[in-house]
Amino acid sequence: PRGPLVLGIETSCDETGIGIVRGRSRPGERHVLLSNTIASSMDEHARYGGVVPEVAARAHLEALQPAIERAVAEAGVTLAEVDAVAVTSGPGLAGALMVGVGAAKALAVSLDKPLYAVNHLVGHIAADILDADAPPLEYPTVALLVSGGHTSLLLVRDLTSDVELLGETVDDAAGEAFDKVARILGLPYPGGPEIDRAAVDGDPTAIRFPRGLSRASDRAAHRYDFSFSGLKTAVARWIEQREAAGEPVPVADVAASFREAVVDVLVGKALDACAQHGVPRLLLGGGVIANRRLRDVALARAEAAGVTVRIPPLSLCTDNGAMIAALAAELIGEGRAPSTLEFGADSTLPV
Ligand code: KG4
Ligand code: ZN
Repeated sequence: PRGPLVLGIETSCDETGIGIVRGRSRPGERHVLLSNTIASSMDEHARYGGVVPEVAARAHLEALQPAIERAVAEAGVTLAEVDAVAVTSGPGLAGALMVGVGAAKALAVSLDKPLYAVNHLVGHIAADILDADAPPLEYPTVALLVSGGHTSLLLVRDLTSDVELLGETVDDAAGEAFDKVARILGLPYPGGPEIDRAAVDGDPTAIRFPRGLSRASDRAAHRYDFSFSGLKTAVARWIEQREAAGEPVPVADVAASFREAVVDVLVGKALDACAQHGVPRLLLGGGVIANRRLRDVALARAEAAGVTVRIPPLSLCTDNGAMIAALAAELIGEGRAPSTLEFGADSTLPV
């Protein structure tokens, strides 16, 4: 027996992702990742220093059809063999989401196959179940999702039925903070990898930048929201003062100290959540996970706290269609009904 062939569509931000997954054919088996095609409009946003929603939506429209063709070819299947279509219906950029949702509806109707609308953040968690080298995901687990578009801490008791939002950013996403501080330092977009490179020779303790929402009172109140705009402002002020004093700006030290502040807050809150909820498992996801320092600090501090860390391969951590297909495969495996065609794009869709 063969499990369902699921095609997933992801267009919530600047990546047009098409993934094809063969769902499990019987309980206890794993879903199999067949292809994971990504077309990014990142280059088009570079000169603006951040993702421009209108540009992203137009890019999805152009990229979708060729991406679907490539994903199908790479998976060695035909569109006619697809058993179900899955799509991100939110959260994300409204116009970008609408392109994917429209395409998914058209595809499902023309193939006469069921359509599953799924949540982007839950999709990031589902990426983990495609990691064939990792043992099966255990519950409950705390998930930290950090990208250019979101910074969310979640308590996952069950992937398909019980995901609780513990906290999220109240202003900039962590990746956005990297991009903005890179810009202040005169480094190109996207800023994350640039800051990572610049920080190599820097001293992370050189400058004590603020840790947003991390006072003892925030911790005592189990407040898991994040704030990075104060940190960005603090970096800008610090540089202004140096320049006003006619002193050179130590870019490596600023980059390393800024990165340390972000990493400290992300890892600190994630492990606080693990401790409060008695959960010895932490799952990381999102494009910012590419940050070497974040991975190292998370692994070291988690080990000291008796927490096991799971990090899917980076190609599954950044926005992609395979994670969306995987989540739908999971829903199908549980016998859940597909979505009706009435759903739209919801930029603030809750988990
Ligand atoms: O998940 P992702 O690929 O997609 C979007 O959110 O669109 O994440 C991209 C974000 C960007 O903000 C980028 O600067 C950041 O992830 N990023 C990093 C690193 N690599 C990418 N941030 C910190 N360190 C990195 N090495
Ligand atoms: Zn994402």
